[in-house]
Amino acid sequence: MELHILTFSPTGTSRKVAEGIARGIDCPVAHMTDITHKEAGQQVFGDSQPLLVSLPVYGGHVAPMALKRMEGIRGSNTPAIAVVVYGNRHYEQALEELAAFLSERGFRIVAAGTFVGEHSYSTEQTPIAVGRPDARDLEFAGLFGQEIAKKLKEGSGDEEVVVGTIEQPEQDAMTMQNFKQTVMTWMKSGLQMPASPLVDASLCSACGICADLCPSSAIDRNSPQETDASLCIKCCACVKGCPSQARTFPTPFARLLADNFNIRKENKFLV
Ligand SMILES: Cc1cc2nc3c(=O)[nH]c(=O)nc-3n(C[C@H](O)[C@H](O)[C@H](O)COP(=O)(O)O)c2cc1C
Repeated sequence: MELHILTFSPTGTSRKVAEGIARGIDCPVAHMTDITHKEAGQQVFGDSQPLLVSLPVYGGHVAPMALKRMEGIRGSNTPAIAVVVYGNRHYEQALEELAAFLSERGFRIVAAGTFVGEHSYSTEQTPIAVGRPDARDLEFAGLFGQEIAKKLKEGSGDEEVVVGTIEQPEQDAMTMQNFKQTVMTWMKSGLQMPASPLVDASLCSACGICADLCPSSAIDRNSPQETDASLCIKCCACVKGCPSQARTFPTPFARLLADNFNIRKENKFLV
């Protein structure tokens, strides 16, 4: 058995989770398709090579750019492991969406997981799930991997899971309601959100690392202080990766999320 990993991971957490699960499965990783900077292309997977897909949650959905870049993949009754990584708020429709996307393309969902990664908007002043996946998360990812390996080896690997039955993260209903209420009020009042990260020109050394990190080529390598807001997906890879902290994404969501979702959520899996 050889594992194939497919991930989209601007700030690296979805990829880390996938690698943690793969270590638990303990079989050679035949191929890693990282679609953060490119399309997956027209890839067809056989039925003997399980596909582990690990993608981030944006606004309760799978990051749209990831699904777009995966449009050309096809399975032929291929076992797939669907994993979504979210920033300690909630993943909402994302896992079901990913499972449906894979099923429609010829994959069988034999296992699924919901994992927490440091929120893309997390900063020192507004910490949200800082440092996750941490050692405890990766240990859990390894355990998940071991369960997947057992299932695939024992021949029960044919059995699909119903992703909707995965255990939900613990969440106080009132906090979630207040969060949604605040967001609705913001939307109604027309509150302006930053369309892309801001650059402090006095700190920027024009090294171009941000342009290399940007999954949507929204930053011009020759003048990295310019960001094309129409291309920016607000993933914050450039903010987190800037060596001189010249880039910030001052969204009011950061404070709201940090205040409301500061209780650690645990990862869940279904095999
Ligand atoms: C535009 C955007 C929307 C997001 N929406 C959610 C969300 O609805 N729920 C949540 O818990 N986290 C949300 N996050 C946080 C990411 O899911 C989380 O930080 C994830 O670990 C990022 O994955 P990556 O490191 O692979 O890029 C959002 C992040 C971004 C950039």
